[in-house]
Amino acid sequence: MKVLVTGGAGFIGSNFVRYALSNHTDWEVINLDKLTYAGNLENLKDVESNPKYRFVQGDIADEELVNKLFSEGIDYCLNFAAETHVDRSIGDPKDFIVTDVQGTYALLEAAKTHGVKRFIQISTDEVYGSIQEGSFVETDMLTPRNPYSASKAGADRLAYSYHATYGLPVVVTRASNNFGPYQYPEKLIPLFVTNAVDDQALPLYGDGLNVRDWLFVEDHCSALDFLLTNGVDGEIYNVGGGNECTNIEITKKVLAQLKKSEDLIKPVKDRQGHDRRYSLDCSKLIAMGWKPSGGFDELLEKTIHWYVENEDWWRKIKSGEYKEYYLKQYANR
Ligand code: NAD
Ligand code: TYD
Repeated sequence: MKVLVTGGAGFIGSNFVRYALSNHTDWEVINLDKLTYAGNLENLKDVESNPKYRFVQGDIADEELVNKLFSEGIDYCLNFAAETHVDRSIGDPKDFIVTDVQGTYALLEAAKTHGVKRFIQISTDEVYGSIQEGSFVETDMLTPRNPYSASKAGADRLAYSYHATYGLPVVVTRASNNFGPYQYPEKLIPLFVTNAVDDQALPLYGDGLNVRDWLFVEDHCSALDFLLTNGVDGEIYNVGGGNECTNIEITKKVLAQLKKSEDLIKPVKDRQGHDRRYSLDCSKLIAMGWKPSGGFDELLEKTIHWYVENEDWWRKIKSGEYKEYYLKQYANR
């Protein structure tokens, strides 16, 4: 199988590339990544010399490049590439629309031209918007409330349209908040862990009572792998961890494990339009035979431990050093 992973140098994409290479030794994995601020080849250092792995630096919105890659004969395409940080989307939405919507369009067009066995559009629970009580099912209305989730909703429905209109074998997945190794330290868990290690304040938005459902990144990878073969064309699948938690609860867990004082918590002005709660009903996927591994506290501990053990990885990012270093390394190859 020839598998195109876009955004494979980011958090979830890099975990998926590693997962794919170790679970499917017959797969050839191509990682197409633009290497934005969030893309980091260090995330894949352990697999870079694997003969089944190839990195291509480029933009998913570059129609010529994307078309050329698909002309090699891609069996599976998993589109992880996106601008992903809500706070950045509030400050400057343009890149979100270009990458998340236009980039997805370029991939879908190339997939339509050359054919694929499966195209997975990695969407998010954020496309549903916020829910006060109960949980979203796949048929619920989409009410995205910030430029990130709105651009992801555009890509989500555009991908579906290529199935409905052209018969492309598209599957859309909507996952909840991921956590695990290699997450860029601007997102809640890695930001708070790395700040706490350095005794720096943890900026908790608003009253800290916003709720997210946390999915361990390897469980997300296993769900995607499962859906490559078991998903039904044109269908949407919610993928959640079943671990709903308020931000203040997570913050306290992080501080407790690191044996740091709760005085580090610094309540700050709330995010604009901050979604109160995300919650997914995953019974559709669970009924098909997938389930998350469970044991949230252990997985969170394991994740915190990873950041403590891999200081070099995040210190380079936080100091802004890594990008220049890696682009130079790559140029010299
Ligand atoms: P990330 O920000 O860590 O990584 C994104 C990757 O995409 C980076 O490597 C970046 O260089 C690359 N990229 C950005 N623009 C590109 C472009 N134009 N062309 C090629 N590559 C480009 O993101 P992540 O957290 O790993 O999320 C991956 C996907 O999963 C996204 O589509 C996101 O919407 C979705 N998702 C994420 C979460 C989560 O909690 N992180 C939850 C549900 C869904
Ligand atoms: P984030 O990791 O940005 O994911 P998302 O907004 O996509 O859910 O944020 C998770 C939650 O943590 C969200 O409710 C916002 C909150 N948060 C803070 O309180 N402080 C922070 O510094 C960050 C980055 C997030």
